Amino acid sequence: MTQTSSNGVVAYEIVDRIAWVSFNRPDKRNAMSPTLNRDMMEVLDLLEFHEDVGVLVLTGEGSAWTAGMDLKEYFRETEAKGLAGTRKAQSESYGWWARLRWYQKPTIAMVNGWCFGGGYGPLFGCDLAFAAEDAKFGLSEINWGILPGGGATKVATELMPLRKAMYHAMTGENISGTTAAEWGLVNEAVPLERLKDRVTEVAHVLLAKNPVALKATKDAVRRVGEMTYDNAQDYLIRAQEAANSFDGEGRKEGIRQFIDEKSYKPGLGTYDTSKTQG
Ligand code: COA
Repeated sequence: MTQTSSNGVVAYEIVDRIAWVSFNRPDKRNAMSPTLNRDMMEVLDLLEFHEDVGVLVLTGEGSAWTAGMDLKEYFRETEAKGLAGTRKAQSESYGWWARLRWYQKPTIAMVNGWCFGGGYGPLFGCDLAFAAEDAKFGLSEINWGILPGGGATKVATELMPLRKAMYHAMTGENISGTTAAEWGLVNEAVPLERLKDRVTEVAHVLLAKNPVALKATKDAVRRVGEMTYDNAQDYLIRAQEAANSFDGEGRKEGIRQFIDEKSYKPGLGTYDTSKTQG
């Protein structure tokens, strides 16, 4: 059953251990207002350690994933309140994007339509991203007279080669979901009618994995990019050793099922995690 946040601008539903979370302002193309940012944090809080949730999917109601920051409520109205108003609004939006980047559960962006500007924050916050082929991605900031802030420029340069990021940011031209996949903004683009099935399929792949190993892996992928090789190697040793203390017998069971039981091959799939208590 679909539920909504305090102000109704975020919807969510848990089905088979997948939390489907939606931007829910379709009449405003899911633009991120301060209210939406607060409600999203509320919903992320609720779901992060919920025992029925193994994967979180972020999508949008209607024709948009999100049209980015709300130009009226996020920019104009908070600016009118002075520095404190602006900083508060920034901290509320950047806060939930950071929460997503380091979320306990794996996260998937399911980009069903428009994705602009500030939307690149949560897009990057999600571990994986799948888009409709006809979705539209744009750094539209330059079209209304600002630079792509709130991390959007950083996202572009993290995910795309420099020439493409520069073109994307300077021209404000939109690209399709198909091109976004080619340029590295999303993992894959599929026809809209297949998008939910594809995301469900990927979510089930993740649900079958050892959850402690999955959280350690997603954090490691984000962390090591900034490290030297030696620092990364050292971090990965420590991260695995830390994971061992929460994983119980998980990894030993993975070895046992392959070497002793011969019930699966790690090169071809996942061990049966239900046979161990994490
Ligand atoms: N901020 C505030 N309101 C927004 C918005 C945004 N980012 N994006 C859409 N809306 C509002 C519109 O003002 C309109 O409100 P109204 O019905 O009260 O007039 C409503 O949402 C529908 O938008 P509309 O432009 O009529 O929809 P569309 O389907 O024709 O076009 C977009 C969709 C996304 C192309 C267009 O709305 C747009 O360009 N939005 C701004 C995108 C942007 O630059 N975002 C960057 C933010 S950093």
